[in-house]
Amino acid sequence: MLIPNTSPSFLNWQDNDPPPKWDVIFGNDSPLALEIGCGVGDFVVQMAEMHPELNFIALDFYNKGCIKTCKRIDKSGLPNVRVLRAEARSFMEACILPGSLQAVIINCPDPWPKLRHRKRRLVNTGFVAYLSGFLMPGADFYFATDFDDYGLDVAEFMVGQDGFDNMLSPDSYRHVLDGYPVSKYMRRFLDEGKQIYYVHYRKRSVADI
Ligand SMILES: C[S@@+](CC[C@H](N)C(=O)[O-])C[C@H]1O[C@@H](n2cnc3c(N)ncnc32)[C@H](O)[C@@H]1O
Repeated sequence: MLIPNTSPSFLNWQDNDPPPKWDVIFGNDSPLALEIGCGVGDFVVQMAEMHPELNFIALDFYNKGCIKTCKRIDKSGLPNVRVLRAEARSFMEACILPGSLQAVIINCPDPWPKLRHRKRRLVNTGFVAYLSGFLMPGADFYFATDFDDYGLDVAEFMVGQDGFDNMLSPDSYRHVLDGYPVSKYMRRFLDEGKQIYYVHYRKRSVADI
């Protein structure tokens, strides 16, 4: 049975509900940043502390992760984070207006290491093209993974992805990203002596295309 989440930081949104009114929910109209797969929320709490000018939506379809994320947010007293339990694509489709996100962050998405499962990976060219429709000009796209061939794959295809500028140029990825918090999974991988692949792109303004 699903453990109920009663935190004030949790938005109890269901697939058929109308889209949330984000400015009413946050009490302001600051730009929205979306973390897909927030896990236990340690990253989003650090990020929201560093960026009070943004409203963060922390998304995960893992209920216990949402509960842990909410506990962290409630403890920190941060006013600029809300947590939703939902699948990323159906959530964006239903709840995010085109061109309205200032940032999308994806840290350590499920790597699907077996060759025959790779097509299940969340981040690929089609997904980034889809995501692009929800980003405003100048919006940031961050991707991080410890998984070598996932990191290299995203770094490689992003170079040719329409409408984005590489913020790490001339590198297509880096192993250190200043000012970017370390998530639980990143910490675990770093402690195991692995390297993180960071990719950071920015959606181009229409005038620059
Ligand atoms: C390996 S964990 C990483 C958690 C966290 N980002 C971190 O770095 O510590 C991946 C998380 O993404 C969530 N996830 C994977 N695909 C998702 C999707 N399509 N929509 C929402 N959450 C997703 C999983 O439930 C899991 O909590």
